[in-house]
Amino acid sequence: MSAVLLTGGSGFIGQALAARLAAQGHRLRLALRSPPQQALPGEVFRFAGLNGDTDWSAALAGIEGVIHCAGRAHVMKESAADPLDVFRRCNVDGSLRLARQAARAGVRRFVFVSTAKVWGGRTLPGQPFTVDSAPDPDDAYARSKLEAERALRALAADGSMEVVIVRPPLVYGPGVKANFLRLMQWLDRGWPLPLAAAHNQRSLIARDNLVDLLARCLDHPAAANQVLPVSDGEDLPVAELLRRLGNALGKPARLFHVPIRLLRIGATLFGQQAMADRLCAPLQVDDGHTRRLLGWSPPLTVDEALARTAADFRAHSHH
Ligand SMILES: NC(=O)c1ccc[n+]([C@@H]2O[C@H](COP(=O)([O-])OP(=O)(O)OC[C@H]3O[C@@H](n4cnc5c(N)ncnc54)[C@H](OP(=O)(O)O)[C@@H]3O)[C@@H](O)[C@H]2O)c1
Repeated sequence: MSAVLLTGGSGFIGQALAARLAAQGHRLRLALRSPPQQALPGEVFRFAGLNGDTDWSAALAGIEGVIHCAGRAHVMKESAADPLDVFRRCNVDGSLRLARQAARAGVRRFVFVSTAKVWGGRTLPGQPFTVDSAPDPDDAYARSKLEAERALRALAADGSMEVVIVRPPLVYGPGVKANFLRLMQWLDRGWPLPLAAAHNQRSLIARDNLVDLLARCLDHPAAANQVLPVSDGEDLPVAELLRRLGNALGKPARLFHVPIRLLRIGATLFGQQAMADRLCAPLQVDDGHTRRLLGWSPPLTVDEALARTAADFRAHSHH
């Protein structure tokens, strides 16, 4: 039990994490840039936005652990003239500002929610990213996360504060948005999907599983100064994911066969190249390091987590 500052508590992952940390008996302070939309399981610290200027001293008073979950992510239609610059200001300068002040305030441990995309946007078949894989980010978001990781590790090098870096692949769960939500909508409408040939394996992480790991990262002695890959531990070809998700929704997937090459051309014509890339590229994460080091295994199976996600979708079928 300890005093924890959580950023990103209004977001998809942060909301679930806040509930979890409070349930575990942590004293929670939530750093938010917008007024809370609902009752929150902790006291609120309001700030203007992640950048290099925030004064965190009041937020950090009495805090032992920080989980930094806020970040610029999920930018579907980028409008910034220089996307890397905007990502950097938030994800690098903003994170480092918080971490420096945390170290000075005597915070013991700082957990940073990074991304598996730091390793790159795709893996070769049968060659998942491991903790030892060289980083090779292929977009501005992932580059900014890698730069933040490096700056945080440099900060931790003098031993004043422990840093834990967690690299999740795509996170899904109740209330998921973006591409995963779109897949559920397609399945729910009973649309025939040209993805029977999508045999590429994807690692995913259920939000409940990620939250379980992040909570453990706050105080497990072996997590100190580690980079931790994480996944559900069961990689699925996209066609199989759609079948299982369809079953969970009670709408069996109607998949037909189109060669992947044609699918990509079609997707490009309809301006959906990024979506096709994500659906058809393999991206696997081997989280063996994390499991061995922390004695951790994800509490939910993929099927259990898909069932929770689908049930929530059903409960809000206006989606
Ligand atoms: N979801 C995934 O698949 C996934 C995978 C790998 C890593 N991650 C990482 O996990 C973290 C949380 O992701 P999420 O899926 O929960 O995203 P989300 O739902 O978009 O939430 C993002 C959170 O960050 C806050 N935030 C964004 N920009 C900010 C800024 N400039 N200043 C202050 N706060 C800001 C948001 O606050 P507002 O509510 O005020 O906007 C929100 O609380 C991110 O760091 C992301 O990179 C996510």
